[in-house]
Amino acid sequence: MDDYIKFTQQIKRKTGIDLVLYKEAQMKRRLIALYEKLGFSNFNDFFEAIQKDAKILDEFLDRMTINVSEFYRNGKRWEVLEQKILPRLIEQNNGKPLKVWSAACSTGEEPYTLAMVLSNFMPLRSISITATDLDENAISRAKIGLYPERSLLEVPTDKKQQFFTLEGSMFKIDEEIKKTVTFKKQNLLADPFQSDYDLIVCRNVLIYFTEEAKDQLYKKFNDALKPGGVFFVGSTEQIFNPSQYQFATEDTFFYRKITS
Ligand SMILES: C[S@@+](CC[C@H](N)C(=O)[O-])C[C@H]1O[C@@H](n2cnc3c(N)ncnc32)[C@H](O)[C@@H]1O
Repeated sequence: MDDYIKFTQQIKRKTGIDLVLYKEAQMKRRLIALYEKLGFSNFNDFFEAIQKDAKILDEFLDRMTINVSEFYRNGKRWEVLEQKILPRLIEQNNGKPLKVWSAACSTGEEPYTLAMVLSNFMPLRSISITATDLDENAISRAKIGLYPERSLLEVPTDKKQQFFTLEGSMFKIDEEIKKTVTFKKQNLLADPFQSDYDLIVCRNVLIYFTEEAKDQLYKKFNDALKPGGVFFVGSTEQIFNPSQYQFATEDTFFYRKITS
């Protein structure tokens, strides 16, 4: 058996993570670079080391998850969310609080951006966002909420003044913003989804998955939305043929759930 296939089976048993659902060439390249850096020459030896040493397991998880994020990533899309999508969702919901999910939230920049955008429409105490990620280390960092200046480049000046304080060389997110977000560990490829969301934001993770995995996920995200709810994807993640998944394009990278 191909030693990568064997490795994927061992990792699935150990962590529940199914590497087969991630694009193989990309994932293999990344993991080979890691094991070579650590001084191993094949996946068998790499897995043995993962079994023995929690630090190596951590390095593996860190390398496979790719936590790169920033506030207001692709700023123009957040403008569309604010100017077009949210006004409709708020009206559709008759002023009731929106149910919002940041799926694959990494270190928190995305759900905190959502909170800041929503704060233009409602008081912070009415905002409640669920934020999930596979990577517990990323979630711990999100809860701490300390960011380097480069993560804040796209934050509007008024929001930077209102919601961040400088601590040494890092920026700390405001406690009131933090309170709007509940973080949870979740594997999108294995764990169940909640339902009745008005807005699901899932950006810059679907690109790592195989077509089959994406196909399953589009269906699950659609099921998790209310009719008229919106699925917001990353700027390289347009859905080819959205109607196949009961979605209509509301704007580029925003898909509205339609009922048949
Ligand atoms: C590049 S970051 C994207 C962060 C943020 N959504 C953004 O667009 O800036 C990708 C995130 O997906 C998470 N991830 C990877 N596989 C996942 C899975 N199966 N379930 C949940 N999260 C996953 C990683 O841990 C990482 O934090």
